[in-house]
Amino acid sequence: MSPQIAGFFIRKIMNRDQVINDTTEFVKAKLKGDSSGHDWWHIYRVQNLSKKIQEKEGGDLFIIEMASLLHDVADWKFYENEETGLNIVRDWLLKIEISNDITEKIIEIIKNISYKGAGVKDQIKTLEGKIVQDADRLDAMGAIGVARTFAFGGKFGNSMHNPEKDVQLHNSFAEYKNSKGTSINHFYEKLLLLKDRLNTETAKDIAIERHNYMEVFLKQFYDEWNSLK
Ligand code: ADP
Ligand code: NI
Repeated sequence: MSPQIAGFFIRKIMNRDQVINDTTEFVKAKLKGDSSGHDWWHIYRVQNLSKKIQEKEGGDLFIIEMASLLHDVADWKFYENEETGLNIVRDWLLKIEISNDITEKIIEIIKNISYKGAGVKDQIKTLEGKIVQDADRLDAMGAIGVARTFAFGGKFGNSMHNPEKDVQLHNSFAEYKNSKGTSINHFYEKLLLLKDRLNTETAKDIAIERHNYMEVFLKQFYDEWNSLK
């Protein structure tokens, strides 16, 4: 390889690392102070789980890392409408001179990543999107998933559990979005369903232990609750 060509590739790699670093700083600043389970460390875990899944499943690592980093900046829960959040991501990608083509691939993932209800079908199409969605879902499961759920419930003023309420599942995004269920209900409307809503075999393997842990947690929770009778 000529020195010029080698130089071109080195510049390209340096540029890639710089873009990831700058985006990391941008996301850290945006999510600073979040106490709903969507703070920087959630992003860090999703980024690293995505990389781990990509090692086995393939896919474009740059798109996967960028979508992992940016996936919650545009979350519908934090803005009046979806477009406001997506425009923040678009503006950032424009500022750091990411091509239109790559920007649209990243946006497409962020738009379709979210779980929208027990009876609502997932729309994610690309391998990169499937991987980031799996990583995000794995972080909603297991001990970390349990912790995030009660953090979220507290932040949004939901009660922990109400034995007088039946389990509620939702057949539309609007219903899911507007429900004010308990944190324990969130296990039934989402968390326990996730193992069957994963895309890749690699994620399905990682999910087994996390799913089983949530079952153990719920059993212990009800055992303690019912021992009061
Ligand atoms: P997604 O990553 O599919 O968009 P969310 O951001 O809605 O999912 O949820 C991420 C995590 O936040 C959930 O897995 C859960 O821990 C918590 N969470 C979201 N909605 C609720 C809720 N209604 N009650 C309790 N926890 C919730
Ligand atoms: Ni997330």
